[in-house]
Amino acid sequence: MEKSVAIIGAGLCGLISCKYLQEKGFNPIVFEAEDGIGGVWRHTIASTKLQNHRKSWEFSDFPWHPSVKEDNPNYQQVLDYLNSYAEHFDIIPCIRFNSKVIDIDYVGESIEEMKSWELWGGNGLPFGSKGKWHITVQDTNNLSTEVYEVKFVILCLGKFSGVPYIPEFPPGQGPELFKGKVMHSMEYSAMDKESAAALIKSNKVTIVGSRKSALDTAVECANANVNHPCTMIQRSTHWHLPDHTAWGINLGFLFSRFAEFIILNPGEPFLRSLAFTLLSPLRWGLSKLVESSLRWKLPMKKFGLIPSHSFLQDLSTCSSVMLPQKFYDKLTEGSIIIKKSESIGFCKEGLIIKGEDKPIETDLVILATGFKGEQKLKSIFKSTIFQKDIINGSLNSSISLYRQIIHPRIPQLGIIGYTEDVSNIFAAEMRCQWLAHFLDGRIGLPNIIEMEKDAKGWENRMKLKSCIAGNSIWYNDQFCKDMGCNPRRKNGLFAELFEPYGPADYVGLTRK
Ligand SMILES: Cc1cc2nc3c(=O)[nH]c(=O)nc-3n(C[C@H](O)[C@H](O)[C@H](O)COP(=O)(O)OP(=O)(O)OC[C@H]3O[C@@H](n4cnc5c(N)ncnc54)[C@H](O)[C@@H]3O)c2cc1C
Ligand SMILES: NC(=O)c1ccc[n+]([C@@H]2O[C@H](COP(=O)([O-])OP(=O)(O)OC[C@H]3O[C@@H](n4cnc5c(N)ncnc54)[C@H](OP(=O)(O)O)[C@@H]3O)[C@@H](O)[C@H]2O)c1
Repeated sequence: MEKSVAIIGAGLCGLISCKYLQEKGFNPIVFEAEDGIGGVWRHTIASTKLQNHRKSWEFSDFPWHPSVKEDNPNYQQVLDYLNSYAEHFDIIPCIRFNSKVIDIDYVGESIEEMKSWELWGGNGLPFGSKGKWHITVQDTNNLSTEVYEVKFVILCLGKFSGVPYIPEFPPGQGPELFKGKVMHSMEYSAMDKESAAALIKSNKVTIVGSRKSALDTAVECANANVNHPCTMIQRSTHWHLPDHTAWGINLGFLFSRFAEFIILNPGEPFLRSLAFTLLSPLRWGLSKLVESSLRWKLPMKKFGLIPSHSFLQDLSTCSSVMLPQKFYDKLTEGSIIIKKSESIGFCKEGLIIKGEDKPIETDLVILATGFKGEQKLKSIFKSTIFQKDIINGSLNSSISLYRQIIHPRIPQLGIIGYTEDVSNIFAAEMRCQWLAHFLDGRIGLPNIIEMEKDAKGWENRMKLKSCIAGNSIWYNDQFCKDMGCNPRRKNGLFAELFEPYGPADYVGLTRK
């Protein structure tokens, strides 16, 4: 009990958390609601591939199997890779499958006492206080429940699963009016592949959304359904990428220290802020370089798909995704039709959008409108105070976490996987190493007020979306410094400035 740790979720983040905790001598228990590991990769549509090049989505200490040669492995290969990682590092025996955590309750410290704390958990330590967590776990086979007690909880619940985001519809135009079928992309992804193929093959399909789930599903529909074009309704357009180059230059340069220097981090000193302002033409130029290349490669103008914002904005909000193969070919041949509308409403025959008199007649509407990860986090807490703390004061859906891991007001708890990056495996590894180090007593925390100030600075920076792409080297520098490692991981000044940083740069970072 003294240093007992529970991890909730055995997706990518739960597995990595478990691995690094075991490395520090902990014996964590992992609760997983499903009967296997892998989280989102168990429920993807048939055409899903890794968006990253496999070399930038690789565990720093466990390479892809040599038989995987594809630059962008498919979902099954990703799932196999996660399974072999779990087996190789002996993670499977720690996992209780079919164990759904209903809620977690912090007991042993009064609310008044907690409010008086200046340091996180009263003393700034992971295990120092007399409080502990009660975890209510349901066996999904027989629905019986059991309560477990641990000193520390790591939430790895996943941001893009479980709770879908359903848009609000104008009054009197809700989906109940529609005679056809409405589903969220999450439900569509959860269908078995044959049923999903049959569903889109025989129906007029309309997809709402303009990012990855929407694009992939649209191409799948266009491939399957020769009788009816697939309609996409987009609220906004984005600088999506057909490949990783701009005018022949690898876009990896955007993940170099030099590229990050032109992005301002919260709390930077005056001189740095001044340099940031002076460098704005360079920032503009970099963005234009990529934008012009995309406009040259793709008929974006012809289809009205040129965004009004910059590529760098899309990059720094994780809104730029990899285009599915042949997306523009499908637009050209008319098997995908894009319509723009800020709002959508339902009528009996289909969808009503702004600027069109007639409804879009349809049989099936797929809402590829994203997820409400923050609601999933909120509802895991039994305490209504923690429920409020976790989203209190947050702008949009972002959550204020110190180092994107620790909530300053919720003791003995870490959250992994909430903040997005370009390569989430890489981001999760850094955070899990930091957390394992902290649990091992090797990292000190500032006081609660300073933690809140730091977290708030980042929250303000991430107004649109909880995403640190564009700042990840800077972020990793903080982790390295906290863990007493040299943040400069390259050989020589040129490499340090201009070479992209990736998982390989942080191999064996904290190994004793
Ligand atoms: C279709 C898809 C493709 C993606 N592709 C990429 C990509 O190419 N590159 C990239 O970097 N990122 C990608 N992402 C982002 C992706 O979310 C992360 O890369 C990563 O796999 C998420 O891992 P996770 O562990 O945080 O969450 P998840 O994979 O969602 O895992 C969460 C786990 O927690 C379990 N769980 C949740 N609640 C409970 C509970 N109450 N009790 C017990 N268990 C619970 C779930 O069952 C699940 O197994 C993709 C996301 C999606 C949806
Ligand atoms: N590897 C893969 O192949 C793959 C496949 C699927 C998903 N993913 C990943 O999974 C994560 C989730 O992706 P996602 O596409 O499901 O969700 P998402 O990135 O959150 O995108 C949600 C989409 O819904 C739109 N939307 C939200 N509210 C709307 C409203 N009221 N009206 C109209 N449109 C609305 C958004 O519009 P705006 O664009 O205007 O904001 C956006 O286009 C991402 O990280 C993604 O990269 C990866």
